[in-house]
Amino acid sequence: MDTSSIVILDFGSQYTQLIARRIREQNVFSVVLPCTAPIEQVRAQKPLGIILSGGPCSVYDADAPPADPAVLELGVPVLGICYGLQFIAHHLGGKVRSAEKREYGHAEVSVVDAESPLFAGIPGPLTAWMSHGDEAIELPPGFHLTAKTSNAVAGIANPERQVWAVQFHPEVHHTKQGTALLRNFLFNICGAKPDWTPELFIQSTVAAIREKVGEGHAICALSGGVDSSVAAVLVHRAIGDRLTCVFVDNGVLRKNEFFKVQENLRNKLGLNLVAVDASGRFLSKLAGVTDPEKKRKIIGNEFIAVFDDEAQRITKEAGQVDWLVQGTLYPDVIESSSVKGPSQTIKSHHNVGGLPETMKLKLIEPLRDLFKDEVRRIGRDLGMPADILERQPFPGPGLAVRILGEITPERVALLQEADDIVVSEIKRAGLYQQIWQSFAVLLPVKSVGVMGDQRTYAYTCAVRAVNSEDGMTADWVPLPYEVLKTISNRIVNEIVGINRVVYDITSKPPGTIEWE
Ligand code: XMP
Repeated sequence: MDTSSIVILDFGSQYTQLIARRIREQNVFSVVLPCTAPIEQVRAQKPLGIILSGGPCSVYDADAPPADPAVLELGVPVLGICYGLQFIAHHLGGKVRSAEKREYGHAEVSVVDAESPLFAGIPGPLTAWMSHGDEAIELPPGFHLTAKTSNAVAGIANPERQVWAVQFHPEVHHTKQGTALLRNFLFNICGAKPDWTPELFIQSTVAAIREKVGEGHAICALSGGVDSSVAAVLVHRAIGDRLTCVFVDNGVLRKNEFFKVQENLRNKLGLNLVAVDASGRFLSKLAGVTDPEKKRKIIGNEFIAVFDDEAQRITKEAGQVDWLVQGTLYPDVIESSSVKGPSQTIKSHHNVGGLPETMKLKLIEPLRDLFKDEVRRIGRDLGMPADILERQPFPGPGLAVRILGEITPERVALLQEADDIVVSEIKRAGLYQQIWQSFAVLLPVKSVGVMGDQRTYAYTCAVRAVNSEDGMTADWVPLPYEVLKTISNRIVNEIVGINRVVYDITSKPPGTIEWE
């Protein structure tokens, strides 16, 4: 897109994505690049300003990220944050040393230079969030102190060079005036305009896709979730029915989902949608398999096979298909290019759309610049229904990861009912959108119960509700007793085959969100 942006150079801070989001919340586009990005790549973004993120290293570490100090010479304003301040001090002739006491947590920062445009309207003292082991003890020539804590440098600047830096983290919400400070950098110092809006994104993305695809054909694997649906709607706006969407019933969808997705995407949004009921094919391959990784592999492979068949059929009917639409999001893009390297793979994740490498299709990834909440905003502006946009995350292999032991049609049907009760009661209690994920798990454990005068011997259902920022860590949610009571009563009374309900009170770590 042809908007100017703020470039954030990532020195490995856990807060880098947060900086990007805070800037976009001000309707200014921001791009994260690894700190090792060549200077031409930084320049190519036509940045209005550059932010140097925090990072875990010390500037003197042998493995300190080898960033090019030429970013300080590009002639655009620079804001260093935490490690960014030390990087500036170190490379422009100041001195940094290991602090006697690591500063971590809240700190009171007083503003020394009330005239500094970075602190305009923020007279201080500020309550700020610190997290660093090093400190600047000598400022580089031409720099002056703009802020300090009781014992350390908290802000420096050299207005002639257009270089500003703070030792604390304005991007985290613990820093009360952090947003005001970032706004000062964006609008007072960089002269940015708040013109990064959903309408602009939609217009320019649709135009770009139209130009890229020309008269070509595209296909897209839909999961019914937010990302693939929004991606498909955008591409559909650009090329109409030359986009064919494929939605596969893999036998482990939620109750009625196969029909709901068709209703939403074909009937309400007008997508050219092929719905393939391959449930029999998947369930027969899954018969007798209990190992969770094997289940995932089977579902992943079978999905490729079904999608491939469909793509061939579509090619025969529509002519050559060149493009594959994927709902890749910005955090995945940053993660794969980050200085930290990809985190360890604990489970082989399966996501629709990311699969058919063998098909030699060129990719269209209309959401690769966006965060999840931005995707939702775009979806709303595209007129998409709330039940797609507000949906909690649902794993690619569906209910298969929530049925422990063997997957049988009977067990799938039981879990579909239980899941439907959990989700609808959580919605009824007004909690659905506040919770990251809430669902039922079917355990292959049978126990004795009584129902009327009858003895029962039936399965156990575990209910799980967790809150999380990104799925990497999670806390179990203390659901109100009344909600738990209704869920439990409904499950044991309405579902023949489940006679016991338990509530999972494990956080992640050490548990995972899914059971498997
Ligand atoms: P765990 O169970 O590892 O899950 O704590 C973390 C998050 O990932 C989701 N999940 C998946 N999502 N494909 C997905 O798209 C998958 O194969 C998959 N497996 C787990 C899980 O629901 C949770 O949000």
